[in-house]
This record gives sequence, structure tokens and C-alpha cells, in this order.
Amino acid sequence: MIKTKRPANARVGPARFGLAVLCLLALALGMAGLPARAQSPVPPAGGGGSLQVLHWWTSASERQAINVVVNQLAKQDIQWRDVAIPGGAGMGAAKVLKSMVLANRAPEVTQLNGVVFGEWADLGLLLELDNVAVQGNWEKQMFPTVWSLLNNHGHVVAAPLGIHRINSLFYNTAIFKRYNLTPPKTWDDFDQIVKKLQGTGIVPLAQSAEAWQLATLFENLALAESGPAYYRRLFVEMSPAAFLDARMLHILKRLRSLAAAMPQPVRERPWTEVARSMVSGEAAMLIMGDWAKGELNAWGMEVDQQFGCAPAPGTGDFHLYSTDTLAMFAGNYAHQPMQETLARLTMSPAVQSEYNRIKGSIPVLRAADPHMDRCARDSWRAFSKGPAWQAPSLVHRMATDDTTKDAIVAEVQRFFLDRNLSEEQTQKRLAAIARTLARNRND
Ligand code: GAL
Repeated sequence: MIKTKRPANARVGPARFGLAVLCLLALALGMAGLPARAQSPVPPAGGGGSLQVLHWWTSASERQAINVVVNQLAKQDIQWRDVAIPGGAGMGAAKVLKSMVLANRAPEVTQLNGVVFGEWADLGLLLELDNVAVQGNWEKQMFPTVWSLLNNHGHVVAAPLGIHRINSLFYNTAIFKRYNLTPPKTWDDFDQIVKKLQGTGIVPLAQSAEAWQLATLFENLALAESGPAYYRRLFVEMSPAAFLDARMLHILKRLRSLAAAMPQPVRERPWTEVARSMVSGEAAMLIMGDWAKGELNAWGMEVDQQFGCAPAPGTGDFHLYSTDTLAMFAGNYAHQPMQETLARLTMSPAVQSEYNRIKGSIPVLRAADPHMDRCARDSWRAFSKGPAWQAPSLVHRMATDDTTKDAIVAEVQRFFLDRNLSEEQTQKRLAAIARTLARNRND
């Protein structure tokens, strides 16, 4: 028989730095391993109630995509109650979630991407969805990488929505046509485009100074530099030696030199504004996760008409991925039937197809969706090649815990904004972060 609840003797996982603090607080509040206090009012089993869902899908396409799920849920007589926290990549939402949990007001459902849900599961807070996964044959249906991401010590602890490709380059087709440009396959090709656009008044690369958006460029450069194996040594294994490697020096030099291709000054802007500056013709290219494609579609623009898509330079063979997932807080298990209904819904082929078409991502299902556009097919092909071609996004929490990710992302932004910091100094600082936090993780 499959257990849905966490066994009483379930081990609390390795105390990761930062999470250790959370653990202590959780223990102090009497939450770890124990069912949280009942959420009120307790809804009847099955439909006829509501689920509070914390997430950061606030742009036009994000809302439209999530409405696919909201509507399906409504058909089951379950109301989706929104706790939408704006802020790209969930930087704000992650903080709100922690505060809500510590105040013993955990939402019933949360958008929770990446390795971090293992941390919440280790605290005994997440509902195990093993029954739903077995009934729906999830293991066979979905990509193995997604399946293993959802599993924590042999239990499924989240329901997947889709897979985003972070190494995506979008370009303004009118500008490319006017100046006879082709999508850059390498960073040298990219430099040629920058040269050709000199003196035209067009900014080659749309960019924001928000930390996560600068780090998006950084992780793309890291993947382009030496492929997924080196990328994993950096961001999954957190090898100090990898950060001190000459390749990192090259990545940082490239990152800094790209400033010349960006709008001046590079301001902190939401990703939607940055995407708009590309389609409006102010900028020629944009490197961003493919939710940008979903957003452009929501604004009435189509692939290969107003804009084109290609893999980011130097990463054509690879897939820098991030998956969107929903985790459920167990609480007193009063919401379990509705939470399981939601989990079941996310994996229905119809929801997968429609949601991902609007969102810009691809379904988590191995079987190719015939409705995918050119960019999605390309993403699907690259992802299907398997783990050797895949790189887990640092920025979107696929590679390491939140504390380490936040420390690296902040360091990258500091380096980009402060010209007085040399590449060598930054390398040392990144290696020190890797050394300290990896040590903490293994303690
Ligand atoms: C990612 C998330 C996407 C998209 C993006 C922009 O972390 O996976 O679904 O919302 O942030 O905020």
C-alpha cells in the first residue's frame, strides 16, 4: 500500500545552510514532522471548497496559462484562491512563502520550483502525491529528469506543469531583415551583429539590471563556455576549483563586455518591460526563458512574424531548463482530496498541452505534443536528448538550494554593476561561496 502521509520516523534531511535556520524555527513552532494546525474552515472532501495558491504568475500570459488550470479546477467545483506575489523568478514569492509557513499560515498549494521542495518535504510539511502519481502512471509518462526532480526520498512531493528553456534568444524580425542579420549561433556571431548595429540607434541586447536577469545571462554564458558537464561542476557540485578555472575568467570577461551591447544605463526593469523593448524595435535581441514567447503571443505577436526564436549563442545542442511545479502543504490533511484533484489535473494531456502552449514552455510528457510551435519543438528535441544535454537552471532553483543560489546571483550582479571589482576578485568570491556553502550542506 502506498503511504500518502509521511511516516513518523521519516528522516529529516541534510541541514542545508539557511534552511537550518528555518528548521530551527519550524521546530520551535512545533511544526517539523507534525501536521500543521487545521486550516479553517475545513472544506468537505472532494469539491465544494477552495484552495489557496501562492505563485508569481502575474503577467498577461502567465495569468492566461494558469487560468487553464483554474477553469478545470472550477469544473470539479474547486475554487482557486489566488495569492499572487509579483516579481520575476519568484524572488518575492519565496520570501512570502517562508513568512507564511513560519506564521503557521501555509497556503494549501504553492508554486515551488526546483530542489527547494526537497527541503520543505524534509521538514515533513508537504503532501505526498504517490497515489496520484501511481494512478496516473507519472513515471512512465513524464521525462525522467522531471520525475526525479519531483521525488524526495522515494515520495512524489509536487505536481509538474511544464518545462521552460532558459537558453532562448528572441529577436526582432523586422530589424534582422532590415540589416540582413541571421540568429547568432556563437558568441562571435553575436559580436558581429553588435558591430553591424553600431550607429543605427538600435540597442543590440535588451537587458535589465535585476539580479536574476543578469544571472540569467551569466548562466547562459557558463553553459556556452564549456557545456553541461562544466556547468554542473559549477552550480550543482559547487566545486571551488571550477570557479577558479580559466573558463570562469572568460565567462566573467564576456559578461562584462556585453554591457556595451545593452541600453545605457542598464536599469532594473521587470522582464515584461525588457521583452517589450525588443518587440518595439528599441532593441534587437533578448535572452530570456521562453515564458517571454508566451508573453509576446499574449500581446498578439507570433513566432516568425514579429519575432523569431533561436537557442542562445553557443548553446544550440543544450537545454538550460526550469520546470514549474505545484507543491501542496499537508496541514491537517483536510484539503487532501482537493489537492490531489489539482495534482491529477496538472498531468492531464489536455491541460499540459493548452497550459504550455500559452505559457511558452513544453509539456513534461515524453510524448511530443503535436500543437507545439517551432520554438517549442526545438526545445522538446533538445530536452529529449537526455541528461547529458540538459543543464539545470541556477537562477530558477534547479541546481542548488536557495541560499547558495541567492549568494551567487547577488555576487554576479555586484560584479556587473561595480567596475572596480575585477574578474579575478569575483572568481575568488564565487569560489569562497561555493566552499563555505557546500561545506555547510555536507555538515
Ligand atoms: C520562472 C517561472 C516561470 C516564469 C518566470 C518569470 O521562475 O518558472 O514560470 O513565471 O519565472 O517570472
